[in-house]
Amino acid sequence: MKIYIKKYIEKKMIKMKKDWRISNRALKIKKSAIHEMTRLSKQVEDVAFLSWAKPTSDTPEHIKNAAVDAITNGLVGGYSENAGIIELRREISKKLKKDNNIDADVSQILVTIGAVEGLSSAIMALVDPGDEVILPSPTYSTHIRQVIIGSGKPVLVPTIEEEGFILDIDAIRKVITPKTKAIMYCSPSNPTGTVFSEKHLRQLSDIALENNLMIITDEAYEYFTYDGYKHFSIASIPEMKKNAISCFTFTKSYAMTGWRIGYLHADETLIPQIKKAHIPFAICAPVVSQYAALAALKGSQDCIKQFKQHYLSARNLMCKRLDRLSSFFDYQKPGGAYLMFPKILLKEGKDSTAFCKKLLKDAKVSTTPGVAFGPTGENHLRLSFCVTEEMINKAFNRMETFFGL
Ligand SMILES: Cc1ncc(COP(=O)(O)O)c(C=O)c1O
Repeated sequence: MKIYIKKYIEKKMIKMKKDWRISNRALKIKKSAIHEMTRLSKQVEDVAFLSWAKPTSDTPEHIKNAAVDAITNGLVGGYSENAGIIELRREISKKLKKDNNIDADVSQILVTIGAVEGLSSAIMALVDPGDEVILPSPTYSTHIRQVIIGSGKPVLVPTIEEEGFILDIDAIRKVITPKTKAIMYCSPSNPTGTVFSEKHLRQLSDIALENNLMIITDEAYEYFTYDGYKHFSIASIPEMKKNAISCFTFTKSYAMTGWRIGYLHADETLIPQIKKAHIPFAICAPVVSQYAALAALKGSQDCIKQFKQHYLSARNLMCKRLDRLSSFFDYQKPGGAYLMFPKILLKEGKDSTAFCKKLLKDAKVSTTPGVAFGPTGENHLRLSFCVTEEMINKAFNRMETFFGL
């Protein structure tokens, strides 16, 4: 009886210490440094903004017009099939074959609310409380949060920075335990811009097959690779059929951030299980955006080429400007995405949040603290070159003044 009372009091005490209304899952998630920097940046007039990984171009006209037509023709007033309209899934199936070398039947495709909802639904379908998910780090902070909100345990494995933040295959092997359920990564990477090589991804698939692990991919930046780097989809390996869930999006390729539309590919026996998460969260992806996405796939793909050309010259400019700050930053040239992740060489950079706040306050330049992407990101900052060249020059002119050059 005494023990029972003691335990009861202990439980009450724990409950009183935290906000009793909130789940432990939610409490474990830290405030987003990206959102915090955005909030602070809004208070600074004429800020030079390098914080967001969001395309600055507008959605191409033919895509917007297709959405207007769908509205005018009364196509968007109801729900669609949970998995997405069939015409869109057929086009996605063709695209996966053509661009990703993935043999995808429509029964293996789920249209989602951006890549993010696909990734979250995949985690919900796969992960039991306490299951471990390996994340090569630094990584997109949303992935860490998705694992935590799914009651899983993120296991962050540092990438090899000196070789361009490449996968550390041996280190990944070493952290596998009986609780490991999946490996989740984005390539090209947010925040480092690294394109994981086909050789390493094949080694990762061997690890998955040997240990019965799932691989969850985030291929948001699939089209943005430079200098001969090539994007490789792990689901193109036929043996991975049952072990891979691949998430894609229209956000980056067609500048459709606000449309919230993406899709996921998985084995047809997994799709109904993933739908068990997709339906209670979403029912279906926004129908108007599904028609816009259909037009994006069927229409001209020139916008992708134009965006890529712009990002490539913006990357070259940013690298050139960083070279002039070589006493302050060391950087790995990104082979993809539109992000880079320089290391801060000053001792003040050990606390990347304080450093970014100072840069914002004193130089009016908004960046993202590296620690937002996991502890291995500390001592770095993330810079986005998905901005105009004018913005890059403005930010770097100010940084040069800030550093006394
Ligand atoms: C790696 C990565 N995945 C996914 C997203 C978001 O994708 P979506 O808008 O399709 O949900 C982002 C956005 O910055 C990202 O960087």
